[in-house]
Amino acid sequence: MEKLNILFAASECHPFAKTGGLADVLGALPKYLRELGHDVRVVMPRYYGIDRTKLQKLPAPLGVPMGIIGEMWCGVYEGRLPDSDVPIYFVDYELFYGRESLYSDESGIGFIDNDNRFVFLSRAAMQLCKALNFRPHILHTHDWHTSAANLFLTTIYANDEHFARCASVLTIHNMQYQGEFYSGLMNVLDVGWEHFNFREVEMDDRVNLLKAGITHATMISAVSPRYSQEILTPEFGYGLEATMRTRANDLWGILNGVDTLEWNPKTDRHLSAHYDADDLSGKAKLKRALQKEMGLPRRDVPLIAVVSRLVRQKGVDVIAESIHDLLKMDIQIVLLGSGEVWTHFYFGDIMRLYPKRFACRIGFDAPLSHRIEAGADLFLMPSRFEPCGLNQMYSQLYGTLPIVHGAGGLEDSVQSYDEKTGEGTGFKFYGLNAKNLVNTVGWAVHTWYNRKDHFQAMQKRAMNLDYGWERSAKTYDLLYKEALRRAKKGLF
Ligand code: ADP
Ligand code: GLC
Repeated sequence: MEKLNILFAASECHPFAKTGGLADVLGALPKYLRELGHDVRVVMPRYYGIDRTKLQKLPAPLGVPMGIIGEMWCGVYEGRLPDSDVPIYFVDYELFYGRESLYSDESGIGFIDNDNRFVFLSRAAMQLCKALNFRPHILHTHDWHTSAANLFLTTIYANDEHFARCASVLTIHNMQYQGEFYSGLMNVLDVGWEHFNFREVEMDDRVNLLKAGITHATMISAVSPRYSQEILTPEFGYGLEATMRTRANDLWGILNGVDTLEWNPKTDRHLSAHYDADDLSGKAKLKRALQKEMGLPRRDVPLIAVVSRLVRQKGVDVIAESIHDLLKMDIQIVLLGSGEVWTHFYFGDIMRLYPKRFACRIGFDAPLSHRIEAGADLFLMPSRFEPCGLNQMYSQLYGTLPIVHGAGGLEDSVQSYDEKTGEGTGFKFYGLNAKNLVNTVGWAVHTWYNRKDHFQAMQKRAMNLDYGWERSAKTYDLLYKEALRRAKKGLF
């Protein structure tokens, strides 16, 4: 197999900084590509929370040209992705990244300088390749935060010998966030105003960084087959569907995997007991421990979990609308999440109203998310849209049957229960509204109480599913080869 040099550029990566599944993908996929023999490296910001003392500082500072602002100099720290020899580089620029959170302040308002912060990261990724004398065959960017790099490759660096053999791939994890900024950002991007047109960078008279990536990447991927089709439509394209359709022949859908070093009920380091498909007694213990931890009575009733960013995408408004009806059933619900500020107050009030049935933790707590996945019986994920979604996959591997709205990756990765045959690994509904949600939860609860045989068979089946990254990593490998083929033939 041909060994490729691959640079991943992204805004977050587990375990260093995480707000969602993007970090999980960045923390896992490079390791699996490394196992295929490639020289993969990752670059991301050095946020305030990342401890520099455990990293190695590169001797020379890195110069990053920022157009009209001039050249800015930053430090670069080097570390390794855990359980691997994959190098990860942290771009250290205090003024941009020395903050507690990644994208926005406590009230959820995006930082005012997000344009410069992420253009800087994208340009730093390019400059870093030169500084390290790392000649990438593939520049792999993720979402709008680094998609300016796809643009840089075909403009500023088009004739740069260092990138002569380089093609680029953009992975779309979420089309809703596009990085839209005032047109003056063109002066910072410094690629020439001739690119500020509707076919490339411009959208509604503004710079749209995701669009720049879509129009300049050699190949594009979306994080599930279903989502790769959905983003061609107005409902899920968020205004970029027409642009996306111009690239439909260069677009692949590749389902994310699960990093089984992190998410495995047999070995999970965050759990006090372990279990597998043949013996779920550990899971029963973990359920009782979770009830205790969350302050719920230790009763043998269906325990339903929600772990989520509490935003509209995740259908949190529909959960809020149905919560009183849901809690009429003899069940318990635990919720862990943070997001839109109203949800923090709302679910806090629900907890006070139903202390024996509902418990929530507002905040981000990775170890607790593992304990919840393991201790619950069911996992509720009624996403309005879901590019891939990881929690429904984690849930299945933990024998915690997902209840999902059949969108995007949820449609691709959950097989709905069939009462006649007992087949399935979860409960799926279409048409996102409170009535359908309550009915489907009712169906799952009814199955838990009255069809224990089917419920347990589904748990076993779910736990034996193969969501390993190995398969997807091989598909990315094919995607890279295709990108190189097209770049070589001048097809892009
Ligand atoms: P998204 O990336 O859209 O948020 P995913 O399902 O792909 O959705 O990934 C979410 C990831 O973030 C999962 O690893 C999930 O466990 C984690 N997560 C979300 N909210 C929290 C939270 N409040 N505390 C800990 N982990 C969380
Ligand atoms: C995004 C999507 C989510 C996906 C994750 C990782 O955050 O919302 O569905 O699983 O990226 O690709």
